[in-house]
Amino acid sequence: MSFAFPEGFYWGTATAAHQVEGGNVHNDLWLIEHVPESLFPDSSGDAIDHYHRYHDDIGLLADLGLNMYRFSLEWSRIEPEEGEFSIAALDHYRRMLASCWERGITPMVTYHHFTSPRWLHRRGGWAGDDTPELFARFCERATRHLGDLTGAACTLNELNIAAILESNSYFDSEDIRELPMVLTTARELGIEPTQFVPFIFATGQKSGEIMLTAHRRGYDAIKAGPGTFPVGMTLGLQDIQSVPGGEEKAAIAQREINDVWLDGARGDDFIGVQSYSRMRYGPDGLLPPPDDAEVTQMGYEFYPEALEATIRHSIAVSGAPVIVTENGIGSEDDALRIEFIRRALNGVANCLRDGLDVRGYVHWSAFDNYEWIYGFRPKFGLIEVDRTTQARKPKPSARYFGEIARSGRLQ
Ligand code: BGC
Repeated sequence: MSFAFPEGFYWGTATAAHQVEGGNVHNDLWLIEHVPESLFPDSSGDAIDHYHRYHDDIGLLADLGLNMYRFSLEWSRIEPEEGEFSIAALDHYRRMLASCWERGITPMVTYHHFTSPRWLHRRGGWAGDDTPELFARFCERATRHLGDLTGAACTLNELNIAAILESNSYFDSEDIRELPMVLTTARELGIEPTQFVPFIFATGQKSGEIMLTAHRRGYDAIKAGPGTFPVGMTLGLQDIQSVPGGEEKAAIAQREINDVWLDGARGDDFIGVQSYSRMRYGPDGLLPPPDDAEVTQMGYEFYPEALEATIRHSIAVSGAPVIVTENGIGSEDDALRIEFIRRALNGVANCLRDGLDVRGYVHWSAFDNYEWIYGFRPKFGLIEVDRTTQARKPKPSARYFGEIARSGRLQ
């Protein structure tokens, strides 16, 4: 059944600075990527050189028919040493914002997307009592320079990332401190391994409180202006399901992965919903994908219906309007990506039919890019990039998504 999306609905794609810019040498992840014991298969290196090619890249997104672009500021470029702000770096992001408006695209800015300046670790990283204050000062300084051109803002990307990784048993927060890669990185930073708390490993209650406080302080700093745009946080939300006997484990996961964070989004202008798959629980805990399921390059189940469930759950818990700030799949099979987008958008349409306040859908990602500890292998992009020539080539999924954006209709 055909569905018409509301007038003014945002249709976008997203990237994050470290994954596309290249040359982010001042941040903590660059360091981890380069220690001899690194488990990262690739260096982010030049990434896709979006730092220099942003103008044409934004033009490409506009040509596809999109009206929103979500990208992140690289804190460590803007404040490479504590308290030392780079006007040149701020000007760079100002030019990006201007390029968006020139092409009829509303820019959504994320102030922190996983990477942090190296110096923050000498102040305790994401377990440091001063971190919310330091983050708020960065938000204040960046907004002063960029706020008049900003269309929407996310404070922190996925405050619950460490909670997700831990509950997926990707890591145990104690074991991680023993990894040779972590020991060497801490040594290079001049801190004890136990004091090394990068954002993506920041588990536990203390870090959770620090992140939520940083969000609140950042929100206030950004709202102080200039600009009058909406501000929220983004969360990696999981569609938590159970099979008989798994209800209790599922309820714990629901609380720890989703709800404690959604509670923290109450009163925000929007909640950035990011959905990739579901998590199913049995009596012994997390279950692997069903035998007949399609599995993506990230190892999780192809399950686009998770988006509808997470939107409904987010609104029920936080009460905040939703912008879908990420949704996508890592796959070489672009026909599968089209299928994913179609089914995910069908879920968004169902929410809108029920009167839920959903204001936009931003697909992850605009380009194939640097997928953190997975390196460049997973392909999340609507646009393919040849990393030798840096040539961009829209995939059929980019045209498919662009057509929906242009017409505002899902067939
Ligand atoms: C992150 C992105 C990442 C994507 C796909 C999200 O958790 O915000 O940086 O590339 O998932 O794994």
